[in-house]
Amino acid sequence: MKGVWRRTIQVGTLMITMGCFGTAPPAHGQAAAPGKKPPMAEDVLKDVRVLKGIPVDQFMDTMGFFAASLSLNCTECHGDRAAGNWAAYADQTPMKTTARKMILMVRSINQTQFGGTAVITCYSCHRGALLPKPEPSLAEQYKENPDPIDPNEAVIGTPRPDDPTADQVFSKYTAAIGGAPAIANLKSYVAKGMYNGFDTEGSPVPVEIYAKAPTSRTTIVHTALGDSVRTFDGSVGWLSALDKPMPVMPITGGDLYGAKLDAMILFPSDLKKTAAQWRVGSTELGDDHVQLLQGTTPGQLPIKLYFDQKSGLLLREVRQTRTIVGLVPTQVDFGDYRDVGGVKLPFKLTVTWTDGQANIQLDSVDANVAIEAAKFSKPAPFVAPKNQKESQ
Ligand code: HEC
Ligand code: HEC
Repeated sequence: MKGVWRRTIQVGTLMITMGCFGTAPPAHGQAAAPGKKPPMAEDVLKDVRVLKGIPVDQFMDTMGFFAASLSLNCTECHGDRAAGNWAAYADQTPMKTTARKMILMVRSINQTQFGGTAVITCYSCHRGALLPKPEPSLAEQYKENPDPIDPNEAVIGTPRPDDPTADQVFSKYTAAIGGAPAIANLKSYVAKGMYNGFDTEGSPVPVEIYAKAPTSRTTIVHTALGDSVRTFDGSVGWLSALDKPMPVMPITGGDLYGAKLDAMILFPSDLKKTAAQWRVGSTELGDDHVQLLQGTTPGQLPIKLYFDQKSGLLLREVRQTRTIVGLVPTQVDFGDYRDVGGVKLPFKLTVTWTDGQANIQLDSVDANVAIEAAKFSKPAPFVAPKNQKESQ
Protein backbone atom coordinates (compact mmCIF):
# COMPACT_ATOMS: atom_id res chain seq x y z
CA MET A 1 0.00 0.00 0.00
CA LYS A 2 2.76 2.36 0.99
CA GLY A 3 4.54 1.91 -2.33
CA VAL A 4 1.35 2.59 -4.26
CA TRP A 5 0.59 5.65 -2.19
CA ARG A 6 4.06 7.17 -2.58
CA ARG A 7 4.05 6.71 -6.31
CA THR A 8 0.56 8.07 -6.60
CA ILE A 9 1.71 11.23 -4.86
CA GLN A 10 4.57 11.35 -7.34
CA VAL A 11 2.16 11.19 -10.23
CA GLY A 12 0.10 13.78 -8.38
CA THR A 13 3.04 16.19 -8.42
CA LEU A 14 3.33 15.66 -12.16
CA MET A 15 -0.35 16.38 -12.53
CA ILE A 16 -0.24 19.52 -10.44
CA THR A 17 2.46 20.88 -12.69
CA MET A 18 0.14 20.12 -15.60
CA GLY A 19 -2.60 21.83 -13.65
CA CYS A 20 -5.25 19.15 -13.85
CA PHE A 21 -5.63 17.35 -10.56
CA GLY A 22 -5.32 17.46 -6.79
CA THR A 23 -6.25 14.49 -4.65
CA ALA A 24 -5.09 10.90 -4.63
CA PRO A 25 -7.21 8.17 -6.26
CA PRO A 26 -9.45 5.93 -4.22
CA ALA A 27 -8.21 2.36 -4.01
CA HIS A 28 -10.87 -0.06 -5.17
CA GLY A 29 -9.29 -3.44 -4.59
CA GLN A 30 -7.21 -5.05 -1.92
CA ALA A 31 -3.68 -3.74 -1.53
CA ALA A 32 -0.91 -6.29 -0.95
CA ALA A 33 0.99 -6.49 2.31
CA PRO A 34 4.60 -5.19 2.28
CA GLY A 35 6.97 -7.69 0.65
CA LYS A 36 4.14 -9.43 -1.19
CA LYS A 37 3.21 -9.05 -4.84
CA PRO A 38 2.12 -5.42 -5.39
CA PRO A 39 -1.50 -4.82 -6.37
CA MET A 40 -2.18 -4.90 -10.05
CA ALA A 41 -3.77 -1.99 -11.89
CA GLU A 42 -7.06 -3.86 -12.30
CA ASP A 43 -7.18 -4.51 -8.51
CA VAL A 44 -6.92 -0.82 -7.65
CA LEU A 45 -8.46 1.05 -10.54
CA LYS A 46 -12.08 0.93 -11.68
CA ASP A 47 -12.14 0.14 -15.39
CA VAL A 48 -8.94 -1.41 -16.66
CA ARG A 49 -9.65 -3.48 -19.76
CA VAL A 50 -6.39 -3.88 -21.65
CA LEU A 51 -3.46 -2.78 -19.45
CA LYS A 52 -4.03 -5.63 -17.00
CA GLY A 53 -1.45 -7.54 -15.01
CA ILE A 54 0.92 -4.63 -14.34
CA PRO A 55 1.51 -2.85 -11.01
CA VAL A 56 -0.20 0.50 -10.54
CA ASP A 57 3.02 2.52 -10.77
CA GLN A 58 3.78 0.97 -14.13
CA PHE A 59 0.22 1.63 -15.20
CA MET A 60 0.75 5.30 -14.38
CA ASP A 61 4.07 5.26 -16.26
CA THR A 62 2.20 4.05 -19.35
CA MET A 63 -0.19 7.01 -18.96
CA GLY A 64 2.84 9.31 -18.98
CA PHE A 65 4.12 7.47 -22.06
CA PHE A 66 0.83 8.13 -23.89
CA ALA A 67 0.83 11.79 -22.86
CA ALA A 68 4.42 12.23 -24.09
CA SER A 69 3.95 10.25 -27.33
CA LEU A 70 0.93 12.29 -28.43
CA SER A 71 1.80 15.58 -26.62
CA LEU A 72 -1.45 15.45 -24.65
CA ASN A 73 -2.53 16.43 -21.16
CA CYS A 74 -4.21 13.73 -19.10
CA THR A 75 -7.58 15.49 -19.42
CA GLU A 76 -7.32 15.63 -23.20
CA CYS A 77 -7.90 11.87 -23.17
CA HIS A 78 -9.86 11.62 -19.95
CA GLY A 79 -12.13 14.63 -20.25
CA ASP A 80 -12.31 17.84 -18.23
CA ARG A 81 -14.27 16.11 -15.46
CA ALA A 82 -11.07 14.19 -14.58
CA ALA A 83 -9.34 17.41 -13.45
CA GLY A 84 -9.10 17.01 -9.67
CA ASN A 85 -11.32 13.91 -9.67
CA TRP A 86 -9.68 10.48 -9.76
CA ALA A 87 -12.96 8.62 -10.07
CA ALA A 88 -13.65 10.41 -13.35
CA TYR A 89 -10.52 8.85 -14.90
CA ALA A 90 -12.67 5.74 -15.31
CA ASP A 91 -15.17 7.66 -17.51
CA GLN A 92 -15.51 6.53 -21.11
CA THR A 93 -14.29 9.06 -23.67
CA PRO A 94 -13.85 8.65 -27.45
CA MET A 95 -10.11 9.25 -27.01
CA LYS A 96 -9.87 6.47 -24.45
CA THR A 97 -11.75 4.12 -26.76
CA THR A 98 -9.34 4.91 -29.61
CA ALA A 99 -6.34 4.61 -27.31
CA ARG A 100 -7.49 1.14 -26.18
CA LYS A 101 -7.74 0.04 -29.83
CA MET A 102 -4.27 1.46 -30.41
CA ILE A 103 -2.84 -0.45 -27.44
CA LEU A 104 -4.23 -3.69 -28.88
CA MET A 105 -2.96 -2.85 -32.35
CA VAL A 106 0.55 -2.14 -31.06
CA ARG A 107 0.50 -5.30 -28.96
CA SER A 108 -0.52 -7.37 -31.96
CA ILE A 109 2.16 -5.83 -34.24
CA ASN A 110 4.83 -6.55 -31.65
CA GLN A 111 3.59 -10.07 -31.05
CA THR A 112 3.32 -11.03 -34.70
CA GLN A 113 6.36 -9.16 -36.03
CA PHE A 114 8.85 -8.66 -33.20
CA GLY A 115 8.57 -11.73 -30.98
CA GLY A 116 6.60 -9.86 -28.33
CA THR A 117 9.23 -7.17 -27.65
CA ALA A 118 7.92 -3.61 -27.55
CA VAL A 119 9.74 -2.52 -30.70
CA ILE A 120 6.84 -0.48 -32.07
CA THR A 121 5.37 2.00 -29.61
CA CYS A 122 2.90 4.88 -29.64
CA TYR A 123 5.85 7.20 -30.25
CA SER A 124 7.03 5.27 -33.33
CA CYS A 125 4.05 6.63 -35.23
CA HIS A 126 2.83 9.63 -33.26
CA ARG A 127 6.19 11.31 -32.54
CA GLY A 128 4.55 13.88 -30.32
CA ALA A 129 1.59 14.51 -32.62
CA LEU A 130 -2.08 13.67 -32.24
CA LEU A 131 -2.28 12.47 -35.82
CA PRO A 132 0.77 10.71 -37.27
CA LYS A 133 2.04 12.08 -40.58
CA PRO A 134 1.29 9.73 -43.44
CA GLU A 135 3.40 11.53 -46.03
CA PRO A 136 7.19 11.80 -46.13
CA SER A 137 8.60 15.33 -45.94
CA LEU A 138 10.81 16.57 -48.78
CA ALA A 139 12.17 19.27 -46.45
CA GLU A 140 13.40 16.59 -44.05
CA GLN A 141 14.71 14.42 -46.88
CA TYR A 142 16.76 17.09 -48.67
CA LYS A 143 17.65 19.79 -46.14
CA GLU A 144 20.23 19.39 -43.40
CA ASN A 145 18.39 21.72 -41.05
CA PRO A 146 14.81 21.94 -42.23
CA ASP A 147 12.75 24.96 -41.13
CA PRO A 148 10.65 24.06 -38.09
CA ILE A 149 7.53 24.89 -40.09
CA ASP A 150 7.33 23.08 -43.40
CA PRO A 151 5.39 25.28 -45.86
CA ASN A 152 4.37 22.15 -47.81
CA GLU A 153 2.37 21.07 -44.75
CA ALA A 154 0.58 24.41 -44.42
CA VAL A 155 -3.15 23.93 -44.16
CA ILE A 156 -5.72 26.48 -45.13
CA GLY A 157 -7.92 27.55 -42.25
CA THR A 158 -10.79 30.00 -42.20
CA PRO A 159 -9.90 32.92 -44.50
CA ARG A 160 -9.15 36.22 -42.78
CA PRO A 161 -11.07 39.30 -43.89
CA ASP A 162 -7.90 40.79 -45.44
CA ASP A 163 -7.06 37.64 -47.45
CA PRO A 164 -7.46 38.12 -51.19
CA THR A 165 -9.74 35.84 -53.17
CA ALA A 166 -8.25 33.13 -55.40
CA ASP A 167 -9.22 35.20 -58.46
CA GLN A 168 -7.33 38.18 -57.07
CA VAL A 169 -4.21 36.04 -56.55
CA PHE A 170 -4.39 34.71 -60.12
CA SER A 171 -4.99 38.24 -61.49
CA LYS A 172 -2.02 39.63 -59.60
CA TYR A 173 0.14 36.80 -60.94
CA THR A 174 -1.09 37.37 -64.51
CA ALA A 175 -0.31 41.09 -64.20
CA ALA A 176 3.10 40.35 -62.63
CA ILE A 177 4.23 38.18 -65.53
CA GLY A 178 3.10 40.57 -68.26
CA GLY A 179 -0.69 40.61 -68.46
CA ALA A 180 -3.28 38.41 -70.15
CA PRO A 181 -2.76 39.67 -73.78
CA ALA A 182 1.01 39.03 -73.63
CA ILE A 183 0.46 35.54 -72.19
CA ALA A 184 -2.11 34.76 -74.88
CA ASN A 185 0.46 35.79 -77.50
CA LEU A 186 2.98 33.24 -76.27
CA LYS A 187 2.27 30.12 -78.29
CA SER A 188 5.48 28.15 -78.05
CA TYR A 189 9.06 28.35 -76.96
CA VAL A 190 12.38 26.63 -77.06
CA ALA A 191 14.54 27.05 -73.98
CA LYS A 192 18.17 26.08 -73.49
CA GLY A 193 20.31 25.93 -70.41
CA MET A 194 22.05 23.62 -67.98
CA TYR A 195 20.71 20.76 -65.88
CA ASN A 196 22.05 18.86 -62.94
CA GLY A 197 20.43 16.11 -60.95
CA PHE A 198 20.80 12.72 -59.33
CA ASP A 199 20.92 11.16 -62.80
CA THR A 200 24.00 13.26 -63.73
CA GLU A 201 25.49 12.78 -60.25
CA GLY A 202 25.30 16.54 -59.82
CA SER A 203 27.35 17.39 -62.93
CA PRO A 204 25.92 20.13 -65.12
CA VAL A 205 24.86 18.99 -68.62
CA PRO A 206 22.96 20.82 -71.38
CA VAL A 207 19.15 20.78 -71.34
CA GLU A 208 16.43 21.87 -73.78
CA ILE A 209 12.77 22.46 -73.14
CA TYR A 210 10.27 22.49 -76.02
CA ALA A 211 6.87 23.86 -75.10
CA LYS A 212 3.72 24.44 -77.10
CA ALA A 213 0.51 26.04 -75.80
CA PRO A 214 -1.59 24.98 -74.10
CA THR A 215 -0.11 21.81 -72.56
CA SER A 216 2.67 20.16 -74.60
CA ARG A 217 6.12 19.97 -73.15
CA THR A 218 9.28 18.00 -73.80
CA THR A 219 12.47 18.21 -71.77
CA ILE A 220 15.67 16.72 -73.15
CA VAL A 221 18.66 16.32 -70.86
CA HIS A 222 21.90 15.57 -72.70
CA THR A 223 23.60 13.33 -70.17
CA ALA A 224 27.10 12.00 -70.82
CA LEU A 225 25.52 8.57 -71.44
CA GLY A 226 22.74 9.63 -73.79
CA ASP A 227 19.61 11.79 -73.93
CA SER A 228 17.03 11.56 -71.15
CA VAL A 229 13.68 12.64 -72.58
CA ARG A 230 10.46 13.52 -70.75
CA THR A 231 7.48 14.18 -73.01
CA PHE A 232 3.90 15.21 -72.42
CA ASP A 233 1.84 15.73 -75.58
CA GLY A 234 -1.22 17.19 -73.86
CA SER A 235 -2.72 13.85 -72.86
CA VAL A 236 -0.05 11.14 -72.68
CA GLY A 237 3.46 11.22 -71.30
CA TRP A 238 6.63 9.14 -71.46
CA LEU A 239 10.01 9.10 -69.91
CA SER A 240 13.05 7.68 -71.66
CA ALA A 241 15.93 8.00 -69.28
CA LEU A 242 19.09 6.45 -67.94
CA ASP A 243 17.95 6.08 -64.34
CA LYS A 244 14.65 4.31 -65.06
CA PRO A 245 14.04 0.56 -65.04
CA MET A 246 12.53 0.44 -68.54
CA PRO A 247 13.68 2.02 -71.82
CA VAL A 248 10.46 4.08 -72.27
CA MET A 249 8.42 4.42 -69.11
CA PRO A 250 4.83 5.64 -69.49
CA ILE A 251 3.80 8.43 -67.10
CA THR A 252 0.56 7.52 -65.30
CA GLY A 253 -1.92 8.58 -62.63
CA GLY A 254 -0.91 11.49 -60.44
CA ASP A 255 2.36 11.85 -62.34
CA LEU A 256 0.40 12.39 -65.55
CA TYR A 257 -1.70 15.10 -63.90
CA GLY A 258 1.59 16.56 -62.67
CA ALA A 259 3.06 16.51 -66.19
CA LYS A 260 0.02 18.44 -67.39
CA LEU A 261 0.45 20.98 -64.59
CA ASP A 262 4.14 21.36 -65.40
CA ALA A 263 3.21 22.16 -68.99
CA MET A 264 0.37 24.52 -68.06
CA ILE A 265 2.56 26.52 -65.74
CA LEU A 266 4.65 27.48 -68.78
CA PHE A 267 1.54 28.95 -70.47
CA PRO A 268 -0.18 30.33 -67.40
CA SER A 269 -3.35 31.71 -68.97
CA ASP A 270 -5.12 28.49 -67.95
CA LEU A 271 -3.43 28.00 -64.58
CA LYS A 272 -6.68 28.61 -62.72
CA LYS A 273 -8.30 25.79 -64.70
CA THR A 274 -5.92 23.22 -63.20
CA ALA A 275 -8.38 22.76 -60.33
CA ALA A 276 -12.13 23.03 -59.96
CA GLN A 277 -12.03 24.94 -56.68
CA TRP A 278 -9.45 27.14 -54.99
CA ARG A 279 -9.02 28.14 -51.36
CA VAL A 280 -6.70 30.87 -50.17
CA GLY A 281 -4.37 30.93 -47.20
CA SER A 282 -0.99 32.34 -46.36
CA THR A 283 2.30 30.99 -45.06
CA GLU A 284 6.05 31.61 -45.15
CA LEU A 285 8.43 30.20 -47.73
CA GLY A 286 11.95 30.84 -46.46
CA ASP A 287 11.98 34.62 -45.93
CA ASP A 288 9.02 35.31 -48.21
CA HIS A 289 5.43 35.83 -47.16
CA VAL A 290 3.42 33.78 -49.58
CA GLN A 291 -0.19 33.49 -50.61
CA LEU A 292 -1.06 29.84 -50.70
CA LEU A 293 -3.71 28.58 -53.08
CA GLN A 294 -4.98 25.05 -52.63
CA GLY A 295 -6.80 23.62 -55.60
CA THR A 296 -9.16 20.68 -55.42
CA THR A 297 -10.75 18.70 -58.23
CA PRO A 298 -13.06 15.73 -57.71
CA GLY A 299 -11.10 12.52 -58.27
CA GLN A 300 -7.70 14.28 -58.07
CA LEU A 301 -5.40 14.95 -55.16
CA PRO A 302 -5.17 18.60 -54.10
CA ILE A 303 -2.41 20.82 -55.45
CA LYS A 304 -0.82 23.80 -53.80
CA LEU A 305 0.54 26.93 -55.45
CA TYR A 306 2.66 29.43 -53.52
CA PHE A 307 2.69 33.04 -54.78
CA ASP A 308 5.03 35.73 -53.48
CA GLN A 309 2.78 38.17 -51.64
CA LYS A 310 4.84 41.16 -52.81
CA SER A 311 5.67 40.41 -56.44
CA GLY A 312 2.71 38.14 -57.15
CA LEU A 313 5.03 35.63 -58.87
CA LEU A 314 4.61 31.87 -58.53
CA LEU A 315 7.39 30.47 -56.31
CA ARG A 316 6.37 26.86 -55.73
CA GLU A 317 3.99 24.15 -56.82
CA VAL A 318 3.38 21.07 -54.65
CA ARG A 319 1.43 18.07 -55.79
CA GLN A 320 1.06 14.45 -54.70
CA THR A 321 0.91 11.05 -56.32
CA ARG A 322 -0.88 8.10 -54.81
CA THR A 323 1.15 4.92 -54.46
CA ILE A 324 0.02 1.69 -52.81
CA VAL A 325 2.12 2.54 -49.74
CA GLY A 326 0.89 6.11 -49.44
CA LEU A 327 1.06 9.57 -50.96
CA VAL A 328 4.35 10.91 -52.26
CA PRO A 329 4.92 14.61 -52.82
CA THR A 330 6.58 16.43 -55.72
CA GLN A 331 7.69 20.02 -55.34
CA VAL A 332 8.67 22.42 -58.13
CA ASP A 333 10.36 25.71 -57.21
CA PHE A 334 10.46 28.60 -59.67
CA GLY A 335 12.86 31.53 -59.64
CA ASP A 336 14.94 33.95 -61.72
CA TYR A 337 11.96 35.31 -63.68
CA ARG A 338 13.07 37.01 -66.91
CA ASP A 339 11.26 38.69 -69.75
CA VAL A 340 10.59 36.62 -72.90
CA GLY A 341 8.58 38.48 -75.56
CA GLY A 342 6.67 40.46 -72.92
CA VAL A 343 6.05 37.50 -70.57
CA LYS A 344 8.13 36.86 -67.47
CA LEU A 345 9.15 33.20 -67.31
CA PRO A 346 11.07 31.34 -64.60
CA PHE A 347 14.63 30.61 -65.76
CA LYS A 348 15.40 28.59 -62.64
CA LEU A 349 13.40 25.43 -61.95
CA THR A 350 14.08 22.96 -59.17
CA VAL A 351 12.09 19.75 -59.11
CA THR A 352 12.23 17.77 -55.86
CA TRP A 353 10.57 14.42 -55.41
CA THR A 354 11.16 11.43 -53.17
CA ASP A 355 13.63 9.67 -55.42
CA GLY A 356 15.50 12.57 -56.92
CA GLN A 357 16.09 16.27 -57.33
CA ALA A 358 16.78 18.16 -60.56
CA ASN A 359 17.93 21.72 -61.15
CA ILE A 360 17.47 23.57 -64.41
CA GLN A 361 19.02 26.97 -65.08
CA LEU A 362 17.98 28.34 -68.46
CA ASP A 363 20.07 30.89 -70.31
CA SER A 364 18.06 31.46 -73.46
CA VAL A 365 14.41 31.23 -74.38
CA ASP A 366 13.14 31.79 -77.94
CA ALA A 367 9.46 32.57 -78.04
CA ASN A 368 6.99 31.65 -80.77
CA VAL A 369 9.27 29.47 -82.85
CA ALA A 370 7.91 26.58 -84.90
CA ILE A 371 8.36 23.18 -83.20
CA GLU A 372 7.87 20.00 -85.20
CA ALA A 373 5.07 17.81 -83.82
CA ALA A 374 7.46 14.84 -83.53
CA LYS A 375 9.17 16.60 -80.60
CA PHE A 376 6.12 15.74 -78.48
CA SER A 377 5.65 12.15 -79.61
CA LYS A 378 6.82 9.02 -77.83
CA PRO A 379 10.60 9.22 -77.41
CA ALA A 380 13.02 6.58 -78.68
CA PRO A 381 14.01 4.00 -76.04
CA PHE A 382 16.96 4.95 -73.91
CA VAL A 383 19.85 2.65 -74.65
CA ALA A 384 22.60 2.81 -72.09
CA PRO A 385 26.17 2.27 -73.30
CA LYS A 386 27.06 -1.41 -72.82
CA ASN A 387 29.58 -1.09 -69.98
CA GLN A 388 27.24 1.28 -68.10
CA LYS A 389 24.35 -1.13 -68.45
CA GLU A 390 26.38 -3.92 -66.93
CA SER A 391 27.53 -1.83 -63.99
CA GLN A 392 23.95 -0.65 -63.22
C1 HEC B 1 -3.84 8.74 -25.16
C2 HEC B 1 -4.90 8.81 -24.16
C3 HEC B 1 -4.55 8.83 -22.71
C4 HEC B 1 -3.77 9.75 -22.06
C5 HEC B 1 -3.02 10.94 -22.63
C6 HEC B 1 -3.82 9.40 -20.66
N1 HEC B 1 -4.59 8.30 -20.49
FE1 HEC B 1 -5.11 7.47 -18.72
N2 HEC B 1 -6.12 6.01 -19.67
C7 HEC B 1 -6.19 5.85 -21.03
C8 HEC B 1 -6.83 4.59 -21.32
C9 HEC B 1 -7.07 4.01 -22.70
C10 HEC B 1 -7.14 3.99 -20.11
C11 HEC B 1 -7.81 2.63 -19.88
C12 HEC B 1 -6.77 1.55 -19.99
C13 HEC B 1 -7.34 0.17 -19.98
O1 HEC B 1 -8.55 -0.01 -20.16
O2 HEC B 1 -6.55 -0.78 -19.77
C14 HEC B 1 -6.71 4.93 -19.09
C15 HEC B 1 -6.90 4.72 -17.73
C16 HEC B 1 -6.46 5.59 -16.75
C17 HEC B 1 -6.72 5.42 -15.35
C18 HEC B 1 -7.57 4.35 -14.71
C19 HEC B 1 -8.95 4.85 -14.43
C20 HEC B 1 -9.84 3.80 -13.78
O3 HEC B 1 -10.09 3.93 -12.59
O4 HEC B 1 -10.21 2.86 -14.49
C21 HEC B 1 -6.10 6.44 -14.70
C22 HEC B 1 -6.06 6.70 -13.20
C23 HEC B 1 -5.45 7.23 -15.71
N3 HEC B 1 -5.70 6.70 -16.94
C24 HEC B 1 -4.69 8.34 -15.44
C25 HEC B 1 -4.05 9.10 -16.41
C26 HEC B 1 -3.17 10.19 -16.11
C27 HEC B 1 -2.81 10.69 -14.71
C28 HEC B 1 -2.75 10.69 -17.28
C29 HEC B 1 -1.76 11.83 -17.53
C30 HEC B 1 -0.41 11.58 -17.08
C31 HEC B 1 -3.36 9.89 -18.34
N4 HEC B 1 -4.13 8.94 -17.77
C32 HEC B 1 -3.18 10.12 -19.67
C33 HEC B 1 -5.79 6.77 -21.97
C34 HEC B 1 -5.03 7.89 -21.70
C1 HEC C 1 1.27 2.12 -36.45
C2 HEC C 1 1.12 3.52 -36.16
C3 HEC C 1 0.48 3.90 -34.85
C4 HEC C 1 0.85 3.50 -33.59
C5 HEC C 1 1.98 2.58 -33.22
C6 HEC C 1 -0.04 4.17 -32.68
N1 HEC C 1 -0.94 4.94 -33.35
FE1 HEC C 1 -2.41 6.07 -32.55
N2 HEC C 1 -2.99 6.66 -34.38
C7 HEC C 1 -2.39 6.25 -35.55
C8 HEC C 1 -3.08 6.85 -36.66
C9 HEC C 1 -2.73 6.69 -38.13
C10 HEC C 1 -4.12 7.64 -36.11
C11 HEC C 1 -5.12 8.48 -36.85
C12 HEC C 1 -6.22 7.57 -37.31
C13 HEC C 1 -7.27 8.32 -38.08
O1 HEC C 1 -7.00 9.42 -38.57
O2 HEC C 1 -8.36 7.76 -38.18
C14 HEC C 1 -4.03 7.48 -34.68
C15 HEC C 1 -4.90 8.07 -33.79
C16 HEC C 1 -4.81 7.96 -32.43
C17 HEC C 1 -5.69 8.60 -31.49
C18 HEC C 1 -6.89 9.47 -31.85
C19 HEC C 1 -6.44 10.87 -32.14
C20 HEC C 1 -7.60 11.73 -32.60
O3 HEC C 1 -7.53 12.94 -32.43
O4 HEC C 1 -8.56 11.19 -33.15
C21 HEC C 1 -5.28 8.25 -30.24
C22 HEC C 1 -5.89 8.70 -28.93
C23 HEC C 1 -4.13 7.39 -30.41
N3 HEC C 1 -3.89 7.23 -31.74
C24 HEC C 1 -3.44 6.82 -29.37
C25 HEC C 1 -2.38 5.94 -29.54
C26 HEC C 1 -1.71 5.29 -28.44
C27 HEC C 1 -2.05 5.49 -26.98
C28 HEC C 1 -0.75 4.50 -29.00
C29 HEC C 1 0.18 3.54 -28.28
C30 HEC C 1 -0.47 2.51 -27.51
C31 HEC C 1 -0.83 4.66 -30.42
N4 HEC C 1 -1.83 5.54 -30.72
C32 HEC C 1 0.00 4.01 -31.33
C33 HEC C 1 -1.31 5.44 -35.71
C34 HEC C 1 -0.64 4.80 -34.68
